[in-house]
Amino acid sequence: MPSLDRADPVILGHILQEHRELHGLLRAAREALTPPSGAHAAASGKGGCDRITEALSRLRDHLTEHFQQEEEGGFLEESLARLPRLAEEAKRVLAEHPGLLDEADRLIQQTSRGDIPAQGWTALCRDVDQFATRLLDHERRENRVVQQGYNEDLGLADD
Ligand SMILES: [Fe+2]
Ligand SMILES: [Fe+2]
Repeated sequence: MPSLDRADPVILGHILQEHRELHGLLRAAREALTPPSGAHAAASGKGGCDRITEALSRLRDHLTEHFQQEEEGGFLEESLARLPRLAEEAKRVLAEHPGLLDEADRLIQQTSRGDIPAQGWTALCRDVDQFATRLLDHERRENRVVQQGYNEDLGLADD
């Protein structure tokens, strides 16, 4: 993690790059869940579960590191100091990290059990979709906080 100077475009680029990587891992997890044939029966066996567990674990590992960087790097804290109006939203966003990690763990636990019956598979697909929606919403709001702070630094913000 480079040193954190809010005006440094490298920081913004780093965060956006991290988020791109995260989107890629999330896409891989969803693809592992839905095989091209769409046949759940084929995917819900041991091999299918292993693939999903692996994809979710990669995503989870990335999230652990990514969240830690965001919390320790202080880029959101810096936004608070410079833009007090963003403080509440920045705090809300950071407070979501533990819940997101718990949810990822829960999904991994579910898939690592091995064979999942068709009904359980449908529920798992729904749970992963819900997790993806939560995670993407989290990242979107985070990007917004960082970008607003950055624009303000450059005098680009309208308010
Ligand atoms: Fe985050
Ligand atoms: Fe993030």
